[in-house]
Amino acid sequence: MRKIDFKSLPHHIAIVMDGNGRWAQRQGVGRIFGHIKGVKTVKHVVRACREMGIKFLTLYAFSMENWDRPDREVQALMKLLEKYLHSEEREMLDNNIRLLSIGNLEFLKDPIKKALLESTRKTSQNTGMTLILALSYGGRDEITEAAKKMATDAMEGRIPPQEITKEVFARYLYTANIPDPDLIIRTSGEYRLSNFLLWQSAYAELYFTEVLWPDFTREELMKAIADYQQRQRRFGLTSEQITKDFD
Ligand code: FPP
Repeated sequence: MRKIDFKSLPHHIAIVMDGNGRWAQRQGVGRIFGHIKGVKTVKHVVRACREMGIKFLTLYAFSMENWDRPDREVQALMKLLEKYLHSEEREMLDNNIRLLSIGNLEFLKDPIKKALLESTRKTSQNTGMTLILALSYGGRDEITEAAKKMATDAMEGRIPPQEITKEVFARYLYTANIPDPDLIIRTSGEYRLSNFLLWQSAYAELYFTEVLWPDFTREELMKAIADYQQRQRRFGLTSEQITKDFD
């Protein structure tokens, strides 16, 4: 097993789970099979993070842009998500996992919305790991919606414009009570964020791997964490300022 320091784990890991389609293509099967295998990886990774002691895990399960995929694929992904919520609720309750979601849930059909809200409610008192599903999520949509709500509050006198700070703005985002990600992982050799956590990723460490999501294992996760632990997070300060804190 790769050497990682369990005392300095990233508090919040966020993952862009990419490559299901290419994985399926390489196997000579339809794209949906890639997503089915992708769900298995989700289960392994959730378990690995929980066992390791990661406090927050965000998974980019369905982007705002994914709504424009062929209808058959959208329906299949929705069915898989619904099935996942039903099959994993027990696992979440038994393992002290709290479920949250970020995204525009208005676009979701009733059965999946219901399953999501039910599991969120039932797990709301759990204090172990928080699993956040980014569903019908887009970073620019999130920021636009937040700006709209804040502008309404300003217009109606609930918040004086001169009191608006980055902290105040962040309270209008879907992630209001969620700490920023420390480590963002993207699989499948694509080097971009694709509208994921645009505001929240300001100081996240980014890790890219060629491995396709269905092939991503606990060992790959360890590799990403070990790589993260090699880095010096400076948050805009100098190296000297950072190391002084540890003297
Ligand atoms: C990207 O692969 C993946 C998605 C668009 C969906 C991710 C969904 C899952 C892993 C399964 C459902 C999730 C949960 C939480 C149960 P792609 O289709 O874009 O792959 P490609 O780039 O190779 O075509």
